[in-house]
Amino acid sequence: MAQAGASALTSHYRRLQGSWKVSSSTQYQRLVVPNGNASQPFHRWFHLKEAYSSQLLSQLMADSSYVPNENLAVFDPYSGSGTTLLSALDMATNHGIPAQVKGVERNPFLWELSRAKVYGRICGREAAKAFDVALDSVADAFHSSSRESLPIPDQSTLQNEAYFPRQNVRDLVAIRSSIDSCTDGEVRSLLRICLAAAVEGCGRLRRDGRALRFAPNRQPKDAWSSFSERAGAVLQDLLLTEPIESSGEVFFGDGREGVNETAVFDWIVFSPPYPNNIDYTEVYKTEAWMLGCYETPAEMRAQRQLTVRSHPSIRFNQDYAFLASDVSREVQSAIDPILESVPDDRYSSGRVELIKGYTDDMLLTLQKCRQNISPDGHLAFIVGNSAHGAGDDSFVIAADVLMGTLAELAGWRVEEVRVARQLSRRTSDNEFLRESVVLLRPA
Ligand SMILES: C[S@@+](CC[C@H](N)C(=O)[O-])C[C@H]1O[C@@H](n2cnc3c(N)ncnc32)[C@H](O)[C@@H]1O
Repeated sequence: MAQAGASALTSHYRRLQGSWKVSSSTQYQRLVVPNGNASQPFHRWFHLKEAYSSQLLSQLMADSSYVPNENLAVFDPYSGSGTTLLSALDMATNHGIPAQVKGVERNPFLWELSRAKVYGRICGREAAKAFDVALDSVADAFHSSSRESLPIPDQSTLQNEAYFPRQNVRDLVAIRSSIDSCTDGEVRSLLRICLAAAVEGCGRLRRDGRALRFAPNRQPKDAWSSFSERAGAVLQDLLLTEPIESSGEVFFGDGREGVNETAVFDWIVFSPPYPNNIDYTEVYKTEAWMLGCYETPAEMRAQRQLTVRSHPSIRFNQDYAFLASDVSREVQSAIDPILESVPDDRYSSGRVELIKGYTDDMLLTLQKCRQNISPDGHLAFIVGNSAHGAGDDSFVIAADVLMGTLAELAGWRVEEVRVARQLSRRTSDNEFLRESVVLLRPA
């Protein structure tokens, strides 16, 4: 019975992608992960495990025989660490033209990160002097501060001394307080990013898939040395970078809503949260708390509710705009076979809500993006499919096929699905368990 369901779902996905060009590309295998970013100026400021490579955008453009001329306008509704925006600024600079890059990010820490990187990349050495002066003041303030009087964030992970030695948490808080008291504007953000990048190394937790895992044998680093090391790398990147004519903005908002209606982009490139178990609010919570983005657990819960409905770890709202839209029937027939594959167990309502919520959120994203693409523009999204459930009852959510189908309903044409890699799971070798780059053009 379960196997018949799985093969019906596979046939459904095959049917949906039947008229598209589907290719496999080993070249993209290394581009859908943050390969090489740790050694690239600006990209190296913070390791976002779920980022893609700084080389992805240039490869996409080369493979589409696209050569920017006069100007390059690029948008990323799920900007994360800002890879798309930084890569676009690099591309435009290499072609000797200005770029206008815009992004949206919902996570307060990642928003500040991508904004700071865009600012640093555009201003380059013009920002270096102010950064260096501010760093000296922060050092003075930190070394003369009395750490004991500062409140520790009201967050259980940071308060757990097995995870973070108390001295390190006090020092990190003192660095933040020194930054916030003696700096302002964009330079403050640059310094706060150095602090965030120091957090993980100061504890015994490592990011692993959907969770922060305890690594008892890890030796936590000293907070001030880690922060200074990060600040040294930022200063070096600023000093070595010529200021450029380009402009960039990252909005603290909702990628599903797009940007203002008059913007027109040559390229929209993004990777939304995948419909799996990764909850970005959770995975990057220690950085966000350390930066003071949340004052109370309720504030963190409220921000999590505003994110894409991509994981079943919390109950999101169950408003599905597609139900009242003029494509409701088509959307429903795209998701019915997936919904029918959900095993009837205690996770079933969470999974049904995930499928409907994700579908709704991605349809809206693709509709909004369609309003802002130039007539000969390009959109590329990178997404991973995932297996849910166990054994014979497991089923795959093929996000690439689902989103391609939604894209067609939103006025796009699927130009190609480039399968970057097959994803293995011990119990499944389903052909749709894969990560893809999907290329769209306005229909
Ligand atoms: C896969 S990551 C993007 C990584 C990015 N491409 C990079 O290379 O750094 C997805 C991002 O979507 C963000 N996100 C989740 N819900 C959002 C929403 N409603 N609006 C905007 N961003 C959101 C997450 O915080 C996360 O940063």
